[in-house]
Amino acid sequence: MIRRPAVVLLALLLSACGRSEPDDGKVHVRFLAAPDVGGFAKAIIERLEKDHPGVKVDMIEGPAAGDARENMYSTAFMGKEDSYDLAYVDVAWVPKFAAQGWLMPLDALIPPKELGEFLPGDLEGSRYEGKLYRLPVQSDGGMLYYRKDLLAEKGLPVPRTWEELVAAAKKTRTPEVAGFVFQGKQYEGLVCVFMELVWGFGGDLLDPGGAVRIDEAPAVAALTALVDGIHADKIIPQAVLTYQEEETRNAFQEGRAVFMRNWPYAWNLMQKEGSRVRGKIGIVPMVAGPGGKPAATLGGWGFAVSAFSRRPKEAFLVAEYFASAESQKLAFLKGGILPSRKALYADPEVLKAAPHMKALGRVLAGARPRPTHPRWPRMSDALQMHVSAALSRQESPAEALRAAAVEIRAAAAR
Ligand code: GLC
Repeated sequence: MIRRPAVVLLALLLSACGRSEPDDGKVHVRFLAAPDVGGFAKAIIERLEKDHPGVKVDMIEGPAAGDARENMYSTAFMGKEDSYDLAYVDVAWVPKFAAQGWLMPLDALIPPKELGEFLPGDLEGSRYEGKLYRLPVQSDGGMLYYRKDLLAEKGLPVPRTWEELVAAAKKTRTPEVAGFVFQGKQYEGLVCVFMELVWGFGGDLLDPGGAVRIDEAPAVAALTALVDGIHADKIIPQAVLTYQEEETRNAFQEGRAVFMRNWPYAWNLMQKEGSRVRGKIGIVPMVAGPGGKPAATLGGWGFAVSAFSRRPKEAFLVAEYFASAESQKLAFLKGGILPSRKALYADPEVLKAAPHMKALGRVLAGARPRPTHPRWPRMSDALQMHVSAALSRQESPAEALRAAAVEIRAAAAR
């Protein structure tokens, strides 16, 4: 009992001095990432460690939900800890992390000519107040996957509107095969799905002037569509309320749904040998509402160097290695991870392996960023909570979005 405070103090002192280095003569660069589905990150690390024998990459595979990893990074950085040398950051976290002073500006380290090789949306999403804080290594955009075979059996065209999606789902679903699945759990992924529909129905969250519009009619119509999809039309199984990306992919890949909203990574995994939907799937932009235009939420990931790292040089080397054309090609071929480098979209090897590249290009062309605001995580939390409450019918769509708007306005005004 008496000794406990001393132990705590010692632990605090040790953490203040930085983490202890393994005694192998190598510089260890550490970061937290999502589970390495498909094993592409480990393959890149293996190459890197061969090319740079003095560097060891410690990738910690954290929880699948990005929000949980955002919390873990935030806790470490708030304490100015050097637990992570790199932050593998979602495009949605850049403003917060940069505004807090947790990331090193990278402008001086990269020649402008090289920056021109990245997709403009990914670069834009890596900047905050004019400075570059992240090297994009993955581009992302949400889309609609569909079962070609099941639509063809009924002579149905690929839907372009929500109404057509509901109609097609009703005609193709069976007791075993649901109409439509998506990421419906209360987390960042749900907001990404919801925003696609809000934009597709002609609404917005924060308009360019900074006004919060998420309680307006188009957003309410979008949320009503999802709620009705579950409870009235019954084209969406209740189970989606527990789905993140992988649960959604598994349901679709096991043949348990006609339509799925997901990110590009799911394609390669579903085309592998043994997949029940191999050769039977297509992708199109997400459906739109009446008179609206289809939209995709811009996602994407990249490496930022922690302002608290004691190995920033090696950390940047790892970031550059992951962002290189060779690594991105490997990530695409092995993991279906969309490149952030323009040239790879015309690379013959990539095109040969990816007949869906053209369709992906169409999706990305319509990709829109979530609001770039330093308090985005807080805004997103509010939206997640109320959209989720509407999906489980604890709040009506209008009530849910009114409540979310109040909280988002408060976060925007702080
Ligand atoms: C994808 C996107 C990311 C988004 C996340 C939500 O990983 O790239 O931007 O926040 O999904 O689950």
